[in-house]
Amino acid sequence: MCGIVAYTGKQPAREPLVEGLKRLEYRGYDSSGIAILTSPPYWVRTVGKVDALERRVWQDSPAGTVGIAHTRWATHGKPSEANAHPHIDCTGKVYLAHNGIIENYLLLKKRLASSGHSFRSETDTEVLAHLIESLYQGNLEAAVQRALLQVQGTFGLAVLHAAHPDEIIVARRGSPIVLGVGVGECFAASDASALARHTDQVVYLEDNEVARLEPGRFSITTLDNRAVSREATTLEAGAGAIERGPYEHFMLKEIFEQPEAVENALRGRINHAEGVAKLGGLESVEERLQQARHLIVVSCGTSYYAGLFARYAFETLTDLTVETELASEFRYRKLNLRQNTVVLAISQSGETADTLAALREAKRKGATVLGLVNVVGSTIARETHAGVYSHAGIEVGVASTKSFVSQIIILTLMALLIGRNRDISYEEGARLLEGLENLPDQIRETLQQSGHIRELAQKYCGFSHFLYIGRKYQYPIALEGALKLKEIAYIHAEGYAAGEMKHGPIALVDPAFPTMAIAPEDGSYEKMMSNVQEIRARDGHVIAITTAGNAKLEHLVDDVIEVPRNHDLLMPALTVVPLQLFAYHCAVLRGCDVDKPRNLAKSVTVE
Ligand code: AGP
Repeated sequence: MCGIVAYTGKQPAREPLVEGLKRLEYRGYDSSGIAILTSPPYWVRTVGKVDALERRVWQDSPAGTVGIAHTRWATHGKPSEANAHPHIDCTGKVYLAHNGIIENYLLLKKRLASSGHSFRSETDTEVLAHLIESLYQGNLEAAVQRALLQVQGTFGLAVLHAAHPDEIIVARRGSPIVLGVGVGECFAASDASALARHTDQVVYLEDNEVARLEPGRFSITTLDNRAVSREATTLEAGAGAIERGPYEHFMLKEIFEQPEAVENALRGRINHAEGVAKLGGLESVEERLQQARHLIVVSCGTSYYAGLFARYAFETLTDLTVETELASEFRYRKLNLRQNTVVLAISQSGETADTLAALREAKRKGATVLGLVNVVGSTIARETHAGVYSHAGIEVGVASTKSFVSQIIILTLMALLIGRNRDISYEEGARLLEGLENLPDQIRETLQQSGHIRELAQKYCGFSHFLYIGRKYQYPIALEGALKLKEIAYIHAEGYAAGEMKHGPIALVDPAFPTMAIAPEDGSYEKMMSNVQEIRARDGHVIAITTAGNAKLEHLVDDVIEVPRNHDLLMPALTVVPLQLFAYHCAVLRGCDVDKPRNLAKSVTVE
């Protein structure tokens, strides 16, 4: 999952390209590169973050007004200048940047090498540049179309040719490409945040489409050259507004934006009079929802843990049978979807390849497929039958935080919507809605403890292993807390259902393996206490997250973090906040790059 930007227009291309690349850096940041059509073409690639490339470009200040740029997350070939994009052909005329995986590249490479092409890199992408070269007969668009008809795999790509001074060809299959139409200029990028500063008129490419960009105009065709007409849509205001403000990192900013994220998720979606939720995006499938008997939730990573929470929420508020599936497994299973099955795909980015493939598989098998997505206009949002946006705002930090909490809120609203039409009473509905509306202030209260949590991070960030345990609604939170510590502080952390401890993990417990016990005073509290006792009995250190005013714990554990009390089902939206802050402070204290953790990227658009 890389980031691509392309520009053709009247201003020096270096500005929109480098600025756009910096906005896409969350997609991959191990190396980057740029190509601008000057004579000879300007072509520079650097290893590491985009800053390195930016320094070179400002130093060289290439004048050309047509160019492409790329920031990489390596799939084939280690991060190096030779493997960085754009890649070129033998003649040095074709320049190509690519996001995706060419599955049959070895076959194509062998064939091209046997007809004399020589390769400079270990990448799958470079093969495309040579394939286009081999098919080029004066029409760049036609050469790209014909080349892509031979490709198995996924691509979002941008191509330049030295003989076509104003033209850029872009194409998409599986990896996102959005066009931006300005006055006398045209843009393309892997997502709209890279071009939102220049225009709010965007066009999303669909799979197997190719676009030809020239200053101020574009045309779209299919790979087999059928013309496609598509209107531009207007981007939501602020789509490009990603400033860190007073915060040291985007992740900290996004943790502190969670009260507003919850308010946005609830806005216009609460009907107090009837004690029910209102979700406009599901009205078109309301009847199918009423007939639904089975719900399958598919997603990845943090969104998968939101899916696990969904299982508890829907089982608590409806009579649906609920399965929560890892999308990367679900997509390859032999599915016997029962009648009246609804499949819900959860994704912050709306572009995660495994989740996209899972929902396409479910659609193929006749299921009603819904989406819970944060990024407006993303592929998952466009391909589902209906869905709900979480409106958490742009999330730049690779570690998901506010998008997770807003997913929990929306999933609770969805379950309440269905449950109130089944056996949930007005009183129960009203109590839950009241709990939801109390959350923003309660999260603000919890965020006050950032200083205390930083002190705990100082005490524990030197440990190399951590256990996270929770029960029922808090089990997914134990998994999420462990993931946060792993992905940004690089500490080995395992999340477990507390009841599982005796069946193995308790063997790990010793003074060098502390435990984070998520133990609010809910229906599972007493059971959690027995688990904490078992750990203490083996000299394990325990940090407990519990409800404010619970004095019973102090003598039992090493450290306590308190959160306000709310409905058992809603406590996860509170208990996850200290876990995000703990991971954040540990990462800062260990000198990790919090917003761009190693080996990760924000949107996983390859399998
Ligand atoms: C979480 O912090 C990670 N960024 C990652 O696990 C993420 O949740 C996963 O890749 C799914 O992304 P999505 O929600 O955009 O589909």
